[in-house]
Amino acid sequence: MRFRLRVSQLHGSVLQLLLLLLMLLLAVVVQAQQAPTKTRTDPTEAAALNAVFGRLGQTAATSWNISGDPCSGAATDSTDIDNDATFNPAIKCDCTDRNNTVCHITKLKIYSRDVNGVIPQELRNLTRLTYLNLSQNVLTGQIPSFIGELTAMQHMTFGINALSGPIPKELGNLTNLTSLGLSSNSFSGSLPSELGNLAKLEQLYIDSAGLSGPLPASFSKLTKMKTLWASDNDFTGQIPDYIGSWNLTELRFQGNSFQGPLPATLSNLVQLTSLRIGDIENGSSSSLAFISNMTSLSTLILLCRILRNCRISDSLASVDFSKFANLTLLDLSFNNITGQLPQNLLNLNLLNSIFLGNNSLTGSIPNSKGSSLTNLDFSYNQLSGNFPTWASDKNLQLNLVANNFVVNASNNSILPSGLGCLQRNTPCFLGSPQ
Ligand SMILES: *[C@@H]1O[C@H](CO)[C@@H](O)[C@H](O)[C@H]1NC(C)=O
Ligand SMILES: *[C@@H]1O[C@H](CO)[C@@H](O)[C@H](O)[C@H]1NC(C)=O
Ligand SMILES: *[C@@H]1O[C@H](CO)[C@@H](O)[C@H](O)[C@H]1NC(C)=O
Ligand SMILES: *[C@@H]1O[C@H](CO)[C@@H](O)[C@H](O)[C@H]1NC(C)=O
Ligand SMILES: *[C@@H]1O[C@H](CO)[C@@H](O)[C@H](O)[C@H]1NC(C)=O
Ligand SMILES: *[C@@H]1O[C@H](CO)[C@@H](O)[C@H](O)[C@H]1NC(C)=O
Ligand SMILES: *[C@@H]1O[C@H](CO)[C@@H](O)[C@H](O)[C@H]1NC(C)=O
Ligand SMILES: *[C@@H]1O[C@H](CO)[C@@H](O)[C@H](O)[C@H]1NC(C)=O
Ligand SMILES: *[C@@H]1O[C@H](CO)[C@@H](O)[C@H](O)[C@H]1NC(C)=O
Ligand SMILES: *[C@@H]1O[C@H](CO)[C@@H](O)[C@H](O)[C@H]1NC(C)=O
Ligand SMILES: *[C@@H]1O[C@H](CO)[C@@H](O)[C@H](O)[C@H]1NC(C)=O
Ligand SMILES: *[C@@H]1O[C@H](CO)[C@@H](O)[C@H](O)[C@H]1NC(C)=O
Repeated sequence: MRFRLRVSQLHGSVLQLLLLLLMLLLAVVVQAQQAPTKTRTDPTEAAALNAVFGRLGQTAATSWNISGDPCSGAATDSTDIDNDATFNPAIKCDCTDRNNTVCHITKLKIYSRDVNGVIPQELRNLTRLTYLNLSQNVLTGQIPSFIGELTAMQHMTFGINALSGPIPKELGNLTNLTSLGLSSNSFSGSLPSELGNLAKLEQLYIDSAGLSGPLPASFSKLTKMKTLWASDNDFTGQIPDYIGSWNLTELRFQGNSFQGPLPATLSNLVQLTSLRIGDIENGSSSSLAFISNMTSLSTLILLCRILRNCRISDSLASVDFSKFANLTLLDLSFNNITGQLPQNLLNLNLLNSIFLGNNSLTGSIPNSKGSSLTNLDFSYNQLSGNFPTWASDKNLQLNLVANNFVVNASNNSILPSGLGCLQRNTPCFLGSPQ
C-alpha cells in the first residue's frame, strides 16, 4: 500500500531518469559478461596437436581451428564429442586454467578416418587428455610406453586398428581409466599384471586382440568392472574365481583356450544381462544350474564347438526359465543338454532366438510358444512325437532335422516336403521325392 502511494507520487521525469540509469547499468553488466575473455590454447599442446594432425594427415573440421587457436568453436562450446559424428576429427578443451585465460586439450577423437601410420610421439605432450578415441583406423606399430604418462586419462580406445607388439605395462599407471579399448588388433603376449592397478576400470574391451596366457591374478582388484569383452584370444588357464566378485553386467569369453570347470563364483554375477562363454576344455563337469539366479540375462550363449570334453551335461529342468523375463537369445548348442523343452521357456515374452542344436533333448516340442520366438534350432537331438502346430507359422526360421519325430499324414501338411528324410531312423530313397 505504502509503496504504491510513493510510486504514484513520483514525478514522471524522475521515473524516466531512474529507468534510464537502470538500463545503462544493465548494458554495462551484459557487456562485461560478453567481453571476449582472452583465452589461448597452451602453446605446447597446440604445437603437439598440430604435429599429431600433420603426421596422421588430418585437418580440423570447419567448426574449429587448427591453424589458429585450436581451442575455438566446437572445441569449447557444448558440442558433444562422443555422440556427434560430424565433429570428427575433434578436440575438446578446458579453458578454466589461470583465471580462464589458458585452455588445455582434454579430449581428442580421430575416429574411422582410415588413418595409417604409427601413434605419434607428440601425443606425449597432450598431458591433460582425459579422452582419446583413435578407433577404427589403420594404426600400426606398438602402443608407445609413454602413454602411461597421460595420467588424467579416463576413456581410451585404440580398438579396430593394426597395432602389434605387447600391451605396455605402463598402461597400469593410468589409474583414472574407467574404459579401455584394445579390441581387434594384432597384439602379442599376455595381459600385463600392472593393469590390475586400474582400480576404477569399468569397461575393458580386449576381444580379438591377439593376446594369450592366463588372466593375471592382480585383476582380482578390478572390482568395479562392468563390461569385459575378451572373446577370440588365446587365453589359457582356468577362468579365475575373482570374476565372481566383479560387478559384471556383460561378459564375453568365447573362443579362448580356457580350462574347465567354470568357477563356482560365476553364479554370483546376478546382474549379468549378457553372458557368452564357449569352448571350455574339460568343462563337461560344469552344470547349468549356475545361471539360476542370473534372471536379468538378455543374451545367454554357452557354446562348445571344437574342443574335447567341453560339453555341459545337464537338464534344462535344472533352471527355472520362467524367471528370465528379459531373455531374447538363448544359445546352448553343441552341449549335452538333456531333458524336455520346458513350456515356460518357449513362452517367454521377449525370447526371439533359441539355439539348442546338437544336444540330447528328449520328449516332444511344446504346442505353444511366445509370438516373438521366430528363430529356433532343435536339430540333432532326440526329440520325438508330432511336430507342434505352430511349426507351419509364417516367418519362422525353424530347424528340426535329425530328431525322432513322427512323420505321417497327420502332420505332413505342416511340413515342408522332404523333411521326413532328415529324421533319424528314416530310410529315404534317392529318386523318390515326396
Ligand atoms: C578460426 O580462426 C579465425 C582467425 O583467428 C577466426 O576468424 C575464426 O572465427 C575461427 N573459427 C572458429 C570456428 O573459431
Ligand atoms: C569413438 O568415437 C565414435 C564416434 O563418435 C563413437 O561411436 C565411439 O563410441 C567412441 N568410442 C569410445 C570408446 O568412446
Ligand atoms: C585471478 O583473478 C583474481 C581476481 O581477479 C586475482 O586476485 C588473481 O590474482 C588472479 N590470479 C591470476 C593467477 O592471475
Ligand atoms: C613437447 O613439448 C616440449 C616443450 O614445448 C618440446 O620441447 C618437445 O619437443 C615436445 N615433445 C614432443 C615429442 O613433441
Ligand atoms: C584422477 O581423478 C581424480 C578424481 O576425479 C582427480 O582428483 C585427479 O586429479 C585425477 N588425476 C589426474 C592425474 O588427473
Ligand atoms: C609407470 O609404470 C612403470 C611400469 O609399470 C613404472 O616403472 C613407472 O615407475 C611408472 N611411472 C610413474 C610415473 O608412475
Ligand atoms: C555395481 O554396479 C551398480 C550399478 O550397475 C552400482 O550401483 C554399484 O555401485 C556398483 N558396485 C561397485 C562395487 O562398483
Ligand atoms: C582333462 O581331463 C582329463 C580327464 O579328466 C585329464 O586327463 C586331462 O589332463 C585334462 N586336461 C587338462 C588340460 O587339464
Ligand atoms: C540363488 O539364490 C538363492 C537365494 O539367495 C540361493 O539359495 C541359491 O544358492 C542361489 N543359487 C545359485 C546357483 O547361486
Ligand atoms: C527386465 O528389464 C527391465 C527394463 O530394463 C527391468 O526393469 C527389469 O527389472 C528386468 N527384469 C529382470 C527379471 O531382470
Ligand atoms: C550326456 O549326458 C548323459 C546324462 O547325463 C550321459 O549319460 C552321457 O554320457 C553324456 N554324453 C556326453 C557325450 O557327454
Ligand atoms: C552334431 O551332431 C551330429 C550328429 O550327432 C554330429 O555328426 C556332428 O559332428 C555334431 N556336430 C558337432 C559340431 O558336434
